[in-house]
Amino acid sequence: MEIKEAQFVMSNTAVDKCPAPDRPEYAFIGRSNVGKSSLINMLTNKRSLAKISGKPGKTRLINHFLINKEWYLVDLPGYGYAQVPKAERLKWEKMLKNYILKRENLYCLFVLIDSRHEAQKVDLEFMEWLGISEIPFNIVFTKTDKLKPKELEDNLKAYEEKMFQIWETMPGYFVSSAEKGIGKDEILRMIDEVNKA
Ligand code: GTP
Ligand code: MG
Repeated sequence: MEIKEAQFVMSNTAVDKCPAPDRPEYAFIGRSNVGKSSLINMLTNKRSLAKISGKPGKTRLINHFLINKEWYLVDLPGYGYAQVPKAERLKWEKMLKNYILKRENLYCLFVLIDSRHEAQKVDLEFMEWLGISEIPFNIVFTKTDKLKPKELEDNLKAYEEKMFQIWETMPGYFVSSAEKGIGKDEILRMIDEVNKA
């Protein structure tokens, strides 16, 4: 699938203010600075559709983008960022969990994981919560341009081993680089297949 048109629709603080849930929706979530907004720009071929920053905590709202007038991509705030005051962090977490549980047209969530790092407790716990809540998700390993092929292979293997301590099967995953355009065709193909199913 090719993205011909990507339009910003609106930013919200709550799920009940989001656009009418009348088309398929795919959202990107993960720790602050993992590369959610960059991945959205890479997928849509737009440099600054979603706001990016080297400083964690850039995206603070639920941001809807309408793709080819047919489906939504959603950029979400990051979780697990210690520098944000606790009260605000709890507010974001509540907003995120509400959005995930209540958004009826959310076909699939993409959980972004930095491919350079060891499995983090906050991500494992979050995915466990998704499993218990029966929310469909896939993992996207980001920033793979920063690793050598062997390092990436080792890190993926280690991550899988960690996941198998919790999960019977490894959730579906993609490897990506917003810098190099890696993973774009695969992710868009999956979305296309789900849209058509
Ligand atoms: P928050 O909105 O703060 O939660 O962050 P985010 O997950 O949206 O991350 P964002 O896309 O803003 O990217 C954070 C930083 O990582 C920026 O400096 C990006 O340029 C960089 N970055 C994102 N993806 C990649 C990638 O694939 N490769 C490299 N080398 N850098 C990346
Ligand atoms: Mg962001």
